[in-house]
Amino acid sequence: MDVKREHIEAYLQSLFGEGVELVRMCKMGETIATTEDVKGFGYGSPLLLEYRKDGQDGSAVISTMRVQYGFGHDHFSDRAQVLIWQHSAFNHLPKHARSIDVGYFDQDGELHSAGGAKEYFLLMEKVEGKEYFFDLERVKEKGATDLDYERAIALSSYLAEIHQTHRDCPALYQRKIRDIVGHGECIMGILDDYPEEPGFLEPGELCEIEKMCVQWRWMLRSMTGRLCQVHGDFHPWNVMFREGPDFSVLDRSRGMWGEAADDITAMTMNYIFYSVQKSMRLSGGMKDLFEIFFQNYLDKTGDFELLRVIAPFFAFRAMVVASPTWYPLLTDEVRRTLFNFVENVLGDEEFDFMNVNGYLR
Ligand SMILES: Nc1ncnc2c1ncn2[C@@H]1O[C@H](COP(=O)(O)OP(=O)(O)OP(=O)(O)O)[C@@H](O)[C@H]1O
Ligand SMILES: [Mg+2]
Repeated sequence: MDVKREHIEAYLQSLFGEGVELVRMCKMGETIATTEDVKGFGYGSPLLLEYRKDGQDGSAVISTMRVQYGFGHDHFSDRAQVLIWQHSAFNHLPKHARSIDVGYFDQDGELHSAGGAKEYFLLMEKVEGKEYFFDLERVKEKGATDLDYERAIALSSYLAEIHQTHRDCPALYQRKIRDIVGHGECIMGILDDYPEEPGFLEPGELCEIEKMCVQWRWMLRSMTGRLCQVHGDFHPWNVMFREGPDFSVLDRSRGMWGEAADDITAMTMNYIFYSVQKSMRLSGGMKDLFEIFFQNYLDKTGDFELLRVIAPFFAFRAMVVASPTWYPLLTDEVRRTLFNFVENVLGDEEFDFMNVNGYLR
């Protein structure tokens, strides 16, 4: 990235006052200081800035993160996260270089301070409609209607469509597989939140489940050709239906590119969950919706390989809905049934979507 002298000077003036003058700047470790623009500024070559204010000389070092895939620095937000954290942490440690400010370069390369941030927020359009989980509450009590079949097909077709867009970036697929097991919002994070030795689990059972998930990670991480566009948190609280099959989605999460199975399980786990709450089995309208969803998706995509990668994603979603934190009112019998599903699905090389009740036993 090229850094313009005028942009640096304008930024220093915004920070220290109008009277500041940039005297020179150079890459750390280089001796040739310049009063011109700096070419190829980036991670690993911080910039030394020397300035004068009211006759006083001052200096500072500006650094940024290398844009690279891997090590969890894939996304612009990952790199921002590291720098925002550094700005909040440096000044709390004795003998540590003081952090003066954190900020960002905009499209034109101008520098803007973000040092005043205390908490970030997102402003988005208000979406009209009703959350899909209300439909599932109704289907659980009254059975499924034609509208419910139409909506299950609409959701499944939507995923079939967005998943058609693929990308060649192995590091992002490996990240998704790493995250489903190790991310704080995913399996390891959910398991860390479980109470010690709950009545519905055997001692050490969670550890054994995590080991199975790690084994699945090593089976899947090389399937990088499957990287596709995803939603990332496609569950019934993030889907708003209006008239008929017309809907909008909310709350995309954990990366624009990932594994199709993540979206499929985020939704279909709820057909199982709502049915198990009622009958410890997948039955009735929920069974029909579950099977229609899968059949329609496979008919539209032909992605039968999905059934050989889906297990850890089902395990994650099942352990979310079985969680005493997220769903405090469930019986131990319901939680036990969901954990049977987790272990049986993780123990099966290829998921049989027409035989879910076999996994719940
Ligand atoms: N843009 C929006 N338009 C309409 N309703 C919204 C919008 N964003 C959020 N909501 C409502 O707020 C609820 C929670 O919002 P949001 O999904 O952001 O929270 P959350 O805690 O991130 O949930 P989760 O991560 O479990 O999806 C949504 O289920 C929806 O009812
Ligand atoms: Mg949400």
